[in-house]
Amino acid sequence: MNVLLLGSGGREHALAWKLAASPLLDTLYAAPANPGIAQHATIVELDVADHASVAAFCREKMVELVVVGPEAPLVAGLADDLRAAGIRVFGPSRQAAQLEGSKGFTKDLCAEYGIPTAAYRRFSDAQSAKAYVKEKGVPIVVKADGLAAGKGVTVAASLEEALAAIDACLSETGGEVVVEEFLEGEEVSFFCLCDGTTALPFGSAQDHKRVGDGDTGPNTGGMGAYSPAPVMTPQMVERTMREIVEPTMKGMAARGTPFSGVLFAGLMITPQGPKLIEYNVRFGDPECQVLMMLLKDDLLVLLNAAVDSQLAHMSARWRDEAALTVVMAAPGYPGAAQKGSVIRGIEDAQAEGVKIFHAGTALSGDALVANGGRVLNVTAMGPSVAAAQAKAYGAIARIDWPQGFFRRDIGWRAVARERGA
Ligand code: AMP
Ligand code: GLY
Repeated sequence: MNVLLLGSGGREHALAWKLAASPLLDTLYAAPANPGIAQHATIVELDVADHASVAAFCREKMVELVVVGPEAPLVAGLADDLRAAGIRVFGPSRQAAQLEGSKGFTKDLCAEYGIPTAAYRRFSDAQSAKAYVKEKGVPIVVKADGLAAGKGVTVAASLEEALAAIDACLSETGGEVVVEEFLEGEEVSFFCLCDGTTALPFGSAQDHKRVGDGDTGPNTGGMGAYSPAPVMTPQMVERTMREIVEPTMKGMAARGTPFSGVLFAGLMITPQGPKLIEYNVRFGDPECQVLMMLLKDDLLVLLNAAVDSQLAHMSARWRDEAALTVVMAAPGYPGAAQKGSVIRGIEDAQAEGVKIFHAGTALSGDALVANGGRVLNVTAMGPSVAAAQAKAYGAIARIDWPQGFFRRDIGWRAVARERGA
C-alpha cells in the first residue's frame, strides 16, 4: 500500500519510522517532511493548502491512505475534500476537528453530555467577561476561542493578569473568550484511535510544557515526555473512557459529525477523578514519539482499521517498558529560534533502545542544521522511567551541538514516584 504522510515535525518522523516497519507498506511519500523523515520516505513537493492538488497527487501515485499529522489541515477540511475525491484519510472531518479548533464547541458538547470539565462561560464582550472574573476570583483560566497554537491560554494567578488576558483575547481574535475554573491535579495526555463509533485506548504520556527545569518559564509545544503515565492506571483509563471519551464519541455521532482519527484528551486527574482540559484531534508532539517507541503492533494495520470502521475488532499491544523523550531546542525557543547551527554526532548517539527523531532540522549541503524551535527528540526505552531517562541523557551527551539546549529534568515526577515505590 502506498501512503502519504503530511507534516514535518518529530511527531511525523516517529510516525514515518513506525509506518516504514510495516510489511503492508509499499512506498511512503511525505510532505513537507524533514531529513529524518527522508530516511523512510520519498519526499514530495505538495501545497497542503491546495486540496485538489493533494488529491491529484494521490491519484497519480496510487496513494491508498493519507495520514495527516498536524491539526491545521484537518480544521481546514483537507480530510473532507480527499474523501470526497475517493481517497482514504486517517484524520477527522472539518466539523469533527472543531473538538480542537473551537474550545466553545467542546465546552458545549461537555455540557450537553455531562462530560466532566472545568466550569466555564463564553463571552463576546469584555465587560461581562471581566465582571464574571471579578465574581469568581483567582486563580482562573482565560482562553481565546479558536486555534491558538498553545498561546491562547492564560492561567491567571492575579486579577490584573486575568483582565489583561481578556482584553488580549478579544482584541486579537475579535471573537469569543472562554473563562473557566482552575483545575488542580496532575496533567496527562491520553490518546484514543477512533473510527466514528469505536474508540480504542492508545496510550498515555506526560508532557513538560514549560521551557525551563522545575516547570518554569514560558509555555512551549512540549519539552519532553514519557509513557506510560503512571496516573493512568487501568481503572483511570476505564473511568476516562466511560465518563469522557465514550460520551464524546456518542455526541459527535448524534450531531452527524462522527469522530475518526486520533482523539488526544488533555486531562487533569483531580481528586474527584479525570476532567477534560481540552481535546486535540491529532497525536501530541512529543507524546507521539514515546508512544511509537512502545507500540508493538503494526501502526499501518491500526490506522487502516480506524479508516475502515474496524476498531471494534482490534487491540493495541505495548512493550512492557517505559519510553522517554527529551527535546533539544534551538536558542531563542519558544520565541524566535536561531536557525542554521550545525549538528553532529547523531548517528553515533543512537544505540540499542535509543532513537533520535528529527523535528526542526534541515540539510545545508552535507551538514545537518537547526531549522526550527524544537530540533531533535532524543528518545529512549528502559525497564523504568529512570532507566529510559539515563539512556536519553547519555545519548544527548554524545551529540555535538553546542547551541542546543534542553531540560535536564524530563520525567522528574515519575522518577520521584519510582524512588518512593
Ligand atoms: P492548552 O494550550 O489549552 O494546552 O493549555 C495550556 C496549559 O494550560 C494546559 O496544558 C494546562 O496546563 C493549563 N490549563 C488549561 N486549562 C486549565 C484549567 N482549567 N485549569 C488548570 N490548568 C489549565
Ligand atoms: N505536546 C502537546 C501537544 O502536542 O499539543
